[in-house]
Amino acid sequence: MQLTDNNYYIGKQKVEGLCEQFGSPLYVYDATVIRERIAELKEGIGKYENADFFYAIKANYNPSLVKEIIGQGLGIDAVSVEEVHMALHCGATPDRILYTGNNMTDKEMTEVHELGVLLNIGSLSRLEKYGRAFSGSRVSIRFNPNIGIASHETNITGGADSKFGISFKNVEKVKEIAKEHNLQIVGIHQHIGSGWLRLREPILALDVILDIATQFEGLEFVDVGGGFGVPYRPEESRLDMNTLGMQIDRRFESFCETYGAHPVLRFEPGRYIVAESCFLLTQVNTIKESISRKIIVGTDTGMNHLVRTAMYGSYHPITNISNPDGMFQEYDITGNICECSDFFARDRMMHEVRDNDILSIGVAGAYGASMASNYQLRGLPTEILVDGDDVQVIRKRETFEDLLARF
Ligand code: LLP
Repeated sequence: MQLTDNNYYIGKQKVEGLCEQFGSPLYVYDATVIRERIAELKEGIGKYENADFFYAIKANYNPSLVKEIIGQGLGIDAVSVEEVHMALHCGATPDRILYTGNNMTDKEMTEVHELGVLLNIGSLSRLEKYGRAFSGSRVSIRFNPNIGIASHETNITGGADSKFGISFKNVEKVKEIAKEHNLQIVGIHQHIGSGWLRLREPILALDVILDIATQFEGLEFVDVGGGFGVPYRPEESRLDMNTLGMQIDRRFESFCETYGAHPVLRFEPGRYIVAESCFLLTQVNTIKESISRKIIVGTDTGMNHLVRTAMYGSYHPITNISNPDGMFQEYDITGNICECSDFFARDRMMHEVRDNDILSIGVAGAYGASMASNYQLRGLPTEILVDGDDVQVIRKRETFEDLLARF
C-alpha cells in the first residue's frame, strides 16, 4: 500500500474505494508482493544449486494464492489431510507435497500414503506404526534439535519440552525402527519456530540438523523448515536474507563435502511469502471515551477475522486511510466481538479517527484468514486479489445461509 497525493493505493487501485465496491471488512491481497517475496527468498537463501522451497500452506490456503505460489515453482508443506487435498486441488503433484502431520491418526497416515505423498514423521511411535503398515516405504523424519526461536513464546517449535519432532538423541532408535521395517529414510527435517528475525538460533539449529543428517545414508533432501520473520513493528528491520543465505550456503556446501553427495536443501516458508501481501480493511462505527478517558474505536471486524493480537498479543500496523492528514491521537482499536481480548491495538498513535473512516490493519496475509473463525456466528469476510489493473474476488463473504448450511 502506497501513499500518493494523500490517497493510499494498491497497484493502481485507490484503497478507500475498495470497501465501497466490495464491502467491509475486506481482506486485500497484492499478487506483486507475493511474487517479490518469493524472488527474495530464491535469491537470498536459495544460493545453493539444489535449493528448493515448499510453501507452508497453513499460513494462507486461499486457492487463488496457492495457485500463484505453486505457479512460481514452489512445493507445499501440509500439516493436515485437508491441506494435502487443497495442495492437490491447486495443482501440486504428490511428489511436491510433504505431509508433516502432528499427532496423526492411522486413518490420516493411510490416506496421505495412498495419495502418494511423502510423510514426515515426528514421533517414534508413529514411525513404528508407519513401518508396520507400509514396510519398505520412503519416509522423512522430523527431528527436534533442542533449539527453538520464534516471534512469540507460543510459536517456538523446538527445544526441551516441545511436542514437535523426535529428540535429536534418538537417531539410533530411528535407524533401528527403519531397519526393522525396511523403511527408506529419504529426508531429514526440522522446524524450530515461526517468525524469527534473529539469525543465531536458526544457524545453530542448522548445524545440529546437518550433524544428524550425516548419520543417514542416501538422503534426497534436508529440510530446515520455515519461520522466516517479517517486520510487523515500525522499529523492526527486515530479515538479513543475504547474510542468512551466505551462512547457510557455506555450511551446506561443507556438509555436502563430508556427506559425499548433494541432497536437496529445502525450506518451508509460510509467513514470509504472504504476510506483507495483505491488509484487512475495516470500517469504524463507534468512537467513545472510557472512564479513564481513553478513546476507544469500534470496528466492524474482530478477533474472529484476525485473531493474532487477541491470541498472541501480536502487533499489526494500523493506518487510517480515510484521514492521512489527520492530527495524531492515541487510540485503542477494538473489534465487534463480545470478548475482552477482542482488540487490534492499545494506546496506538494514529491520524485522527472519525466515524465511518476506513482503517487498514497491515501485515495480515499470514495466519489471518487461515485462522479466522465463525465465532459469534459471524461470516468470514470477502477476500480480493489485486494484480496490477486486475482485481478479483477470491473468497465471497459468508452469509447466514452459508453458515446454516453446515448444521
Ligand atoms: N513448517 C512447519 C512444519 C511449520 O509448523 C510451520 C509453521 C512452517 C513451516 C511455516 O512457518 P512460517 O514460515 O510461516 O513462520 N499462527 C502463528 C504461526 C504458527 C506457525 C506454525 N508452524 C502466527 O500467527 O504467528
